[in-house]
Amino acid sequence: MNSDELREEFLIFFESKGHKVLPSASLIPNDPQLLFTVAGMVPFKPIFWGKVKPVYTRVATCQKCLRTNDIDNVGRTPRHQTFFEMLGNFSFGDYFKKEAITWAWEFVTKILKLPEERLWVTIYRDDDEAFRIWKDLVGIEEKKIIRMGKETNFWGPAGPTGPCGPCSEIHYFTGSKPSDDCTPESCEEQFLEIWNLVFTEFNQDEEGRLHPLPKKNIDTGAGLERIASAIQNVKSNFETDLFKPVISRIEEVLGVRYGLDERKDISIRVIADHSRAVSFLIADGVFPSNEERGYVLRRILRRAVRHGVLLGAQKPFLHTVNDAVIERMKKVYPELSERRELIMSVTQAEEERFFKTIVQGNEMLKEIMAKSNKKIDGESVFKLYDTYGFPPDIVVDVARENGLEVDLKDFERLMEEQRQKARSARSDIEYAKRTDLYNELAKSFKTIFVGYQTLDCEAEVIFVKDDSSTPEVVFDKTPFYAERGGQVSDVGEVHWNDGSAVVEHVYIPVEGIVAHVLRIKSGQLQKGMKVKLTVDEKRRKATARNHTATHLLHAALKKVLGEHVKQAGSLVAPDRLRFDFTHHQSLTKEQLEKIEDLVNEVILNSLPVIIEEKSYKEAISEGAIALFNEKYGEVVRVVKVPQFSEELCGGTHVENTGNIGLFKIISEFAISAGTRRIEAITGFNSLNYLRDNENLMEKIYERLDASGNDILLKIDGLIEKNNNLNKELQQLRSKLLISQLRQTPSEQINNIKFLHCVFEEIEPNELRNLSDVAVSGESSLVVLLFSVGKDKVNLIVRVTQDLTKKIKAGDIAKQAAQILEGGGGGRPEFAQAGGKNTAKVNQVIEYARKLLQQG
Ligand code: ALA
Repeated sequence: MNSDELREEFLIFFESKGHKVLPSASLIPNDPQLLFTVAGMVPFKPIFWGKVKPVYTRVATCQKCLRTNDIDNVGRTPRHQTFFEMLGNFSFGDYFKKEAITWAWEFVTKILKLPEERLWVTIYRDDDEAFRIWKDLVGIEEKKIIRMGKETNFWGPAGPTGPCGPCSEIHYFTGSKPSDDCTPESCEEQFLEIWNLVFTEFNQDEEGRLHPLPKKNIDTGAGLERIASAIQNVKSNFETDLFKPVISRIEEVLGVRYGLDERKDISIRVIADHSRAVSFLIADGVFPSNEERGYVLRRILRRAVRHGVLLGAQKPFLHTVNDAVIERMKKVYPELSERRELIMSVTQAEEERFFKTIVQGNEMLKEIMAKSNKKIDGESVFKLYDTYGFPPDIVVDVARENGLEVDLKDFERLMEEQRQKARSARSDIEYAKRTDLYNELAKSFKTIFVGYQTLDCEAEVIFVKDDSSTPEVVFDKTPFYAERGGQVSDVGEVHWNDGSAVVEHVYIPVEGIVAHVLRIKSGQLQKGMKVKLTVDEKRRKATARNHTATHLLHAALKKVLGEHVKQAGSLVAPDRLRFDFTHHQSLTKEQLEKIEDLVNEVILNSLPVIIEEKSYKEAISEGAIALFNEKYGEVVRVVKVPQFSEELCGGTHVENTGNIGLFKIISEFAISAGTRRIEAITGFNSLNYLRDNENLMEKIYERLDASGNDILLKIDGLIEKNNNLNKELQQLRSKLLISQLRQTPSEQINNIKFLHCVFEEIEPNELRNLSDVAVSGESSLVVLLFSVGKDKVNLIVRVTQDLTKKIKAGDIAKQAAQILEGGGGGRPEFAQAGGKNTAKVNQVIEYARKLLQQG
């Protein structure tokens, strides 16, 4: 069975058991606790948690996952990977242990036909229920059911808090002959864990305490690559059909052979694994950067390149390996072929950058290693990283290869110091305290948002944080839109019996709570008081125009530039909109105009903006762009402009595209490699923009006393006139300087004419021209011409040819340079000097005079 069939069979099997098969969610979870989707259950965390009601109670998926905690082991063992696929079946308060266990067994033995004598199971130490099911229902011999501790048989949470529970695993014996005294506990290395069945029944809090979840759930995870290696009877994941074409490509582009030399094999496996991670990450919208996800991607990518260098690569190669990954996986993950170009070009650009860093870094590292005795100190590693961007894990690799250790503790200390500095600058501590208060409140309360329907309402004060004149206040309900999803918050007013306040900012400190930052004008607010809340309508409307326009812009960008365009951030404010997106080139004028035209056409067609609430699945199947991935089961808000744009969005919008008014792009530029920004305006802002431009033009016409297209002729005329005047001025100036030069008498010393003249700051070429004038047709002449500015002096020395045997211009210039505190030198006939001591010009003249007197 090949891996594609395996994936298929798994999903079909669970479909036959009443499961809804869902597509893999993105590697980027909609989860503030996690950088990446680390397990099949991640997209369903809110459902397990009881925060979101599921549409389906039985689900099966094959989920793309990424884990980097064991990255150092990748390539060194048969099993470790960063990117992998996890097969899983899930029950949200539906079936529990009995079904999970018996179905897993049925799939493994009946469908995969793995021999029973090679299968063992483990359970959590006191899970007698699981024990009985394995023994009595499945019929496993008691000695093959191993009770194990929390370390191995308790799974989760994914993140610092959340759903978790005891688990039971199925292990496959990979040795030659199974025997009773060789169990997953006693000879771990001979066993392959192929399936983990988690009985998710607890929620773990910040302190590590377990609380029962409202419902009992099932979360299972079977590594696709591992099972493939078992059924294909190969020694490692890297020898399965999933990796074969990738490894062949590496052999081809780097001219190496897999299976001949273990050291080289490690590098080949690292590249094979990392190139899958890189391809899938870029396909899901991650770009190399120095922060968070982007940094992880950069690190993985650079690690792969480094191993390529170990195998002899001298130029970018990884993108070519990605091509093999795309080819192998595109049928199941069409996003790979859709973003092929992006995956290739982003990888190649980063490779090129890194090849440069590697050359520099390796040189420095060599020096550092030569000076190090057994251990490379943390400071050097930190400096390599901080100043040159040379990754510490590469230092560790190289050091290891050279039999050296690295003082990572000290490196970590320095990194922590730097992080501390950054943190105190942001005063996170105050923020954390404030969130604690709101966390407490959120346990028993939720603000009702009425702002989609109305801009004012009566409300009751639920909570006042501090009694200053700028308190934060929570009301039972609010029409104020809190800052989120790129849209800025509403502002407005609060009125009550004997007082009023301005609402300056509104935000969501924790999910469910809307906090209003107020500035009290008169009176005081207390818990329980009744107030009237009013949103600033003008500003709300201007913001709504920009928000709907942002959706239209997003759709137009995809139409004009291609489907690879992905939103990378946005700001929707009343005065403008800002949209960041992935694209690798600057936009041409034609493209920008086409985008403006497309958006304005939709505006002029006055299409209704339809807002609907539906299930995530429904929305996605209708083609809505999912900016928040993986909220299966949750009701989402879909904002639709018929035939043009459909997005999941919580923001506020106009009712009809005609309300937007003129849409105008005012700037387009790169904000980082591969990400660009467009700023645009709508409504009254476009009108004001036109007016400002018009006023400016009026002033220009007025000043030039022109009308219509005449103005261009006038400007051309002015430029020409100006050029002519400049030329004339130059000529006059030069005449003046020449006459100054001619009027300067020369001294006679020992039959030599000595001419020196000091000009007020003139251009070096002017000074040179003047020296030409001075020597022209002359003999027995020494000339010193100075140009003296505020804090610098330039000098040209000329000596006519008949004197150069005795007197050399270069020598005088050198000496002059010393006196003037600068530099200088040149040929015997012509030399120059410069310096900063403008007061010493006379000293130079005196020196030359003495030189001539000496003969
Ligand atoms: N969530 C479980 C795991 O990742 C199934 O192993």
